[in-house]
Amino acid sequence: MPVPSDEVGVAPRGPVAAGGDAVPAIHAVDLTKRYGHIEALAGLSMSVPRGEIFGFLGPNGAGKTTAVKLLLGLTTPTAGDAWLLGEPIGRAQARRRVGYLPELFRYPAWLSPVEVLQFHCRLIGVPGSERGAEIDSALTIVGLRERGRDRVGTFSKGMQQRLGLAVAMLGAPEIVFLDEPTSALDPVGRHDVREIIRDLRGRGTAVFLNSHLLSEVEQVCDRLAVVDRGRVIASGTLDEILSGGSGVRLRVTGLTGLPTLLARWGEVVSDGEWISMRGVADDDVPDIVADLVARGGRVHAVEPQRQSLEDRFLEVLRAADDGAAA
Ligand SMILES: Nc1ncnc2c1ncn2[C@@H]1O[C@H](COP(=O)(O)OP(=O)(O)OP(=O)(O)O)[C@@H](O)[C@H]1O
Ligand SMILES: [Mg+2]
Repeated sequence: MPVPSDEVGVAPRGPVAAGGDAVPAIHAVDLTKRYGHIEALAGLSMSVPRGEIFGFLGPNGAGKTTAVKLLLGLTTPTAGDAWLLGEPIGRAQARRRVGYLPELFRYPAWLSPVEVLQFHCRLIGVPGSERGAEIDSALTIVGLRERGRDRVGTFSKGMQQRLGLAVAMLGAPEIVFLDEPTSALDPVGRHDVREIIRDLRGRGTAVFLNSHLLSEVEQVCDRLAVVDRGRVIASGTLDEILSGGSGVRLRVTGLTGLPTLLARWGEVVSDGEWISMRGVADDDVPDIVADLVARGGRVHAVEPQRQSLEDRFLEVLRAADDGAAA
């Protein structure tokens, strides 16, 4: 595994001074939540700078929603500490500067989107004179402007999810937590949400994106953590996570004992007319070719092999399973 880590990003211990751009948007140290015998989150340490899109990727029950609820102060940690914008979690000051799209939510069926948004504007303290423009802008961004006065009870689930996203964006938040934001959306809706997320980053907003959708995380996140059974089992940029799975395929003639010759550069996974290797550093490829040629081999082809995030994700999860079973 390339970057197996319980520590995501730079995570100095102890509280972080409030104020200033140097203060990370999110900072957690050993954040832990147990529900009876279930360890929903096991010692999460991470730091997310402002303006970064951070993906929290994991299968059902991995602890993604638990992490978000802890960071938002909606449930209390069993152990560990965390700060949002330099403020200890649970304090109202930081919470006002944070947007949140919950995983499962329902707005009262009799309200209109405008009424829902007005209510949330009041909650987060958007001045009365600014509410109209704020609501209009949020509805436009999520594509619901034409439906602003209809009843929420008549909305499709994708439209309700769009409304949830509009709520999360009210009041120019400095961090937005999105818990599976596209689960009900069609492909166009998913594309729109990716654009909205990128736009938030452009404004310096940090985005914490919970997802089990690899493609979503792959397309939009600057960094990600793969979480399974409460533990971060890999983290880093997509390239860093994928690099441990990178390999090369070679077609070489004129040499015998190739697997033995190649073993020092990486793991030989299959032998034949083509020989496949895994865990080969990009920088070593020219040296491998030079070595084979120097030994009298004829190198007909060298093809880099890149794992898809999906294959890598499954491999990382399997490795974590094997580790847990050992
Ligand atoms: N209130 C609770 N009481 C008891 N156990 C809980 C509670 N909330 C979560 N859990 C347990 O904690 C673990 C993590 O749940 P969590 O909702 O964080 O997962 P998730 O990664 O968000 O999953 P999904 O992709 O299905 O949304 C699960 O085993 C779950 O059953
Ligand atoms: Mg969840």
